[in-house]
Amino acid sequence: MNRVDTLELWLAEQRQAVDAMLTTILDRQPAAEQELDAAMRHALLLGGKRLRPALTIAACEVAGGDVRAALAVGAAVELVHTYSLVHDDLPAMDDDALRRGQPTVHVVWSDATAILTGDALLTLAFEVLASAPELDALPADLRLDMIRTLASAAGHRGMVAGQSLDMAATSQDDPVDLDADVLAAIHRAKTGALIRASVGLGLLASGNRDPGLAQNLDRYAALLGHAFQVVDDVLDATADTETLGKPSGSDAELGKLTYVRLLGLDGARGEAARLCAQAEALLEAMPNAMRLRQLIHWVRDRSH
Ligand code: IPE
Ligand code: IPE
Ligand code: MG
Ligand code: MG
Ligand code: MG
Repeated sequence: MNRVDTLELWLAEQRQAVDAMLTTILDRQPAAEQELDAAMRHALLLGGKRLRPALTIAACEVAGGDVRAALAVGAAVELVHTYSLVHDDLPAMDDDALRRGQPTVHVVWSDATAILTGDALLTLAFEVLASAPELDALPADLRLDMIRTLASAAGHRGMVAGQSLDMAATSQDDPVDLDADVLAAIHRAKTGALIRASVGLGLLASGNRDPGLAQNLDRYAALLGHAFQVVDDVLDATADTETLGKPSGSDAELGKLTYVRLLGLDGARGEAARLCAQAEALLEAMPNAMRLRQLIHWVRDRSH
């Protein structure tokens, strides 16, 4: 079995465990309102690669921690990520009708339901970090650190800031202000911040407090998160809607500032490869980093 197959098997296992954890979280306290409950399950449980929780688990593993706690923490990240997708697809943002191979929440229900579903998923993430029984063994100050890490990555200095910059840079007009620094800042914030938090939370869950390891993992995650969004831009321009499970060509249609628009397809692919090579170099001195290395290759070479 080659290395890619080994990673695919491991990812499939993590996906199954994450799906079970997310179902447990929703079943534990069904939403008080039936439509909201159905919309949350629709957004959360019908697909998704679960890369972020897989990174939380892999980071916890490389730091020598117990991956059971990392699973609940990773589920919290996935809740925030899924909320961001539900809102990202709204007509006032990217106006996409398909997500994870399913019609989007605002298409099945309404804009109001999609806004509220996002709100509910976001807040549930913090409830999980504060009170999930899977995290009972963790000291309260560590849980507070986790809440702080996820909140700042998701909020106005992180993902939400990136989404705001993304919307401001969206324009059909030519010449759009094609600025590489602006684009890097958008991608680092809208996608990189949450991927960094995924890894940072895995390290926190491990209990390992080695500052050198923390710094290296954070740099790795920042590069991987940036590369992930560059590849997302490439796939939007090259893959078909069925493979993606979301509308291909959406970026060009909307006039998004993307790496494909900035550098062309080959240039964007080259940028992703460059970021991935930098991330890989950081792992050279890290023992037991095979999984993190495989994940770089997976992000770079993924088809959806
Ligand atoms: C999509 O994220 C949004 C981006 C940040 C590019 P993913 O490609 O991880 O989407 P899912 O979770 O697998 O659906
Ligand atoms: C979204 O970037 C990043 C988020 C924070 C959701 P995109 O708008 O490119 O993500 P997709 O392509 O719709 O998944
Ligand atoms: Mg968007
Ligand atoms: Mg979008
Ligand atoms: Mg995209």
